[in-house]
Amino acid sequence: MTHLEQKTCEMPIGVFDSGVGGLTVAREIMRNLPNERIVYFGDTARVPYGSKSKDTILRYSHQIIRFLRTQGVKAIVVACNTASALALDEIERELDIPILGVVRPGARVAAAATSNRRIGVIATESTINSHLYRRTIQEQSPDVIVFEKACPLFVPLVEEGWLDDPVTREVAERYLSDLLRQDIDTLILGCTHYPLLRSLIGEIAGGQVTLVNPAYETARELERLLEREHIANTGAKAPGREPYRFFVSDAADKFKRFANSILPYDIETTRKINIEEY
Ligand code: DGL
Repeated sequence: MTHLEQKTCEMPIGVFDSGVGGLTVAREIMRNLPNERIVYFGDTARVPYGSKSKDTILRYSHQIIRFLRTQGVKAIVVACNTASALALDEIERELDIPILGVVRPGARVAAAATSNRRIGVIATESTINSHLYRRTIQEQSPDVIVFEKACPLFVPLVEEGWLDDPVTREVAERYLSDLLRQDIDTLILGCTHYPLLRSLIGEIAGGQVTLVNPAYETARELERLLEREHIANTGAKAPGREPYRFFVSDAADKFKRFANSILPYDIETTRKINIEEY
């Protein structure tokens, strides 16, 4: 390997989301690819993305990618389901480094997992309205029927920390009842926050329904992508440099508290930047 190739392999992966939720994806990347460095950006000033239009999400995503490029990233993971569903196809065409979203890896695994050919998808309103999960599943398996349901109240409940709470259970039962009546055997947790409700959703759905976490599938797909492009960091992380760096557009302290509650280690600093400058 030349010196230049070695340098590229040591560059970080850029991961972005509308806020804290994408940390569920960063967490899976940390677990699955411990040699890789990460630069994470959470757009905490402009969250939620889940109720916004395609034009807005595209503009935000372009700004964030311009910022991540200033950090010298070798590849980008769009951790946000909404941005993956609304903006990824267009961004991908313009970018000269590899980029990966969370929707396609989740959809592909669900299509392979279902036995009775009936899959449920829960996500934000914008992700559901894009129908990208349904289209991707049916591209792979045209005979699969996909039932979609937007669950907008889950994001604030998770951010409130009400992961195992009677109110959240009541909301989940109401959201899931229609899907479960459709006899689905696979359910995609199609929003960054939903894996944090996995136990509750699993109890309501019952043991016969397989829950698919796109964050986990994305980390595995990222591993394959880095190998394919010959940019995986096979050596140890360079000592003396922060392996994981976190940036937000607002409320850095709140972000840090949430991050420390879900990541396997405590983060020291979160830097606030003005994303509108990019
Ligand atoms: N990160 C978003 C997603 O995965 C959820 C939060 C939001 O609406 O911005 O779709």
